[in-house]
Amino acid sequence: MNKVLRVGIAGLGTVGASVVRLLHTQASDLAARTGRAIAVTGVSARDPGRNRGVDLSGVDFFADPVALARSEDIDLFVELIGGDEGAARKSVTGALEAGKSVVTANKALLAKHGLELARLAEETHAALAFEGAVAGGIPIVKTLREGLAGNRVARVYGILNGTCNYILSRMELEGLSFAECLADAQMLGYAEADPTFDIGGFDTAHKLAILASLAFGVKLDADTIAIEGIQHISLADIEAAAELGFRIKLLGVAQRTGHGVEQRVHPTMVPLSSPIAQVMGVTNAVTVDADAVNELTLVGPGAGGMATASAVVADIADIARGIRSAPFGLPVAHLVNAEKSPMQRHEGGYYIRLAARNHIGAAGAIATRMAERGISLESIVQRRKLYGDSGADDSVVPVVLVTYATTEASVRDALAAIVADGHIAEKPQVIRIERE
Ligand code: HSE
Repeated sequence: MNKVLRVGIAGLGTVGASVVRLLHTQASDLAARTGRAIAVTGVSARDPGRNRGVDLSGVDFFADPVALARSEDIDLFVELIGGDEGAARKSVTGALEAGKSVVTANKALLAKHGLELARLAEETHAALAFEGAVAGGIPIVKTLREGLAGNRVARVYGILNGTCNYILSRMELEGLSFAECLADAQMLGYAEADPTFDIGGFDTAHKLAILASLAFGVKLDADTIAIEGIQHISLADIEAAAELGFRIKLLGVAQRTGHGVEQRVHPTMVPLSSPIAQVMGVTNAVTVDADAVNELTLVGPGAGGMATASAVVADIADIARGIRSAPFGLPVAHLVNAEKSPMQRHEGGYYIRLAARNHIGAAGAIATRMAERGISLESIVQRRKLYGDSGADDSVVPVVLVTYATTEASVRDALAAIVADGHIAEKPQVIRIERE
């Protein structure tokens, strides 16, 4: 058997402690599978004395994660500190500079500095692996980089944030408000320290930048992603979606278009019959459309100690076996620039909910403004009462439109004309539709 792979782990939170636990409980199987023993020989954490329920006897404790990363006594550095700067960036950089392979689950660090870290890894012939950074326990990084290497990917999209999916699921299933569901998600520990990262779509965008790079060979650049969060989704939209045969999900979508790779994060209407619509709660899912496999959907736990540790340990096992993949599937010099694709150019179907003033000709005028821009309506529904509203006031009525494929520019232009006509009482709600 080859010599022991000595692992240093920085960050002993839920994921870090679970990695230590898995490496202990699976030690003999991992040694058999990889041909060498894997031992945690160093750790770094804020509170050395805390009981984490794992055996750390004989393991060196480092107060400074950068010192651990550069230590002669480890072969592989595992970064589970989090954050896109500070100790996480310094320690990962330090380990790669010292020629040590790195495993990280840090999506924010990769989205911001992934390219420079991959370049450094290439220079020093070290591995940089990050299966745990996207969709927790779902092995989507390996699926895109190795499993689908013989395919040309047309689109990759998914539910990449468990907090948002939990909130949208509970709103739908229990009729609760957005604020109530967010408070519960925070209490249950699903949300990031700052929940804006989750509900504003930024966490999804970090993960999407990684997927887009793997799927399309573009340089990671979260700034090229159009981002909208779920803060403005109401029970009225959720009810209307169900009535029209859709469910609302926060999706990250990257797809080839005639004008480059479009990357976007936004609340999305997905057909109720689609695999991704069935995914409820904190669960994540990723669908890949590719020429040889057609369509593939992976569903599983997107967060949580053991699920993310499963991904981290898979990366450790690859490195123990001597596997060194280009982090983003291609040498850095072959990755191409990601162009910002303006949402105005986006083509697809749209759900539009308007609070129309209840006077003669309003519905007709709305339809006319759409027709003037060449927008074809798949359905138009007007209700006497507002969705989700039991009040008796019917001076304003909801009008819900579903369009056939059109451009975002046409939709925005038509809505500006409808607003100028004075037929609606509130800002229009617009949700893009993603078909299978
Ligand atoms: N806050 C994230 C989520 C955790 O809700 O999915 C995993 O990245």
